Amino acid sequence: MGFDLTIYEGEEALPIADRELLKKARSATSGAYAPYSGFRVGAALLLQSGEVIIGSNQENASFPSGLCAERVAVFQKGARFPEGLIEVLAVVALSPGNHLKTPAAPCGNCRQSLLEYERRQKNPIRILLQADSGRVYECPSVSALLPLGFDQSYLDSRF
Ligand code: THU
Repeated sequence: MGFDLTIYEGEEALPIADRELLKKARSATSGAYAPYSGFRVGAALLLQSGEVIIGSNQENASFPSGLCAERVAVFQKGARFPEGLIEVLAVVALSPGNHLKTPAAPCGNCRQSLLEYERRQKNPIRILLQADSGRVYECPSVSALLPLGFDQSYLDSRF
């Protein structure tokens, strides 16, 4: 089983709805609080209802207390729309010098958190990642990004 990733050099080839969502993720970077890394990340989740939830990275003087844009968005979704179904996650990362050629991939902790939402809703979350250069990576699901992920089935036979 190979890693399923589609690469677009620019977003022109994407459907309009995907471009719109990437635009919302890009505009969410304005809410980033990143005085320590200077790395601004915006995330936008499209729910089946049409609702869009955004998130941005929130750093802290105590570094590990900060949170990535993806988890800010997905936890907000969980709190506000617990039954809502996530269809797509778009993430735009802007590096300080704006020279990222490769889209920033969600960190391991975010993949783990996202996987739980995907398993709970029993429907794949499609992922779009965009770099400064405009290049877009598309991945069909969180499980594709995190193969052999740890989930609740390991914890208790009741699950
Ligand atoms: N960051 C995100 O928000 N999402 C990612 O996918 C990668 C990293 C944030 C965390 C931290 O505020 C900064 O980027 C540098 O790691």
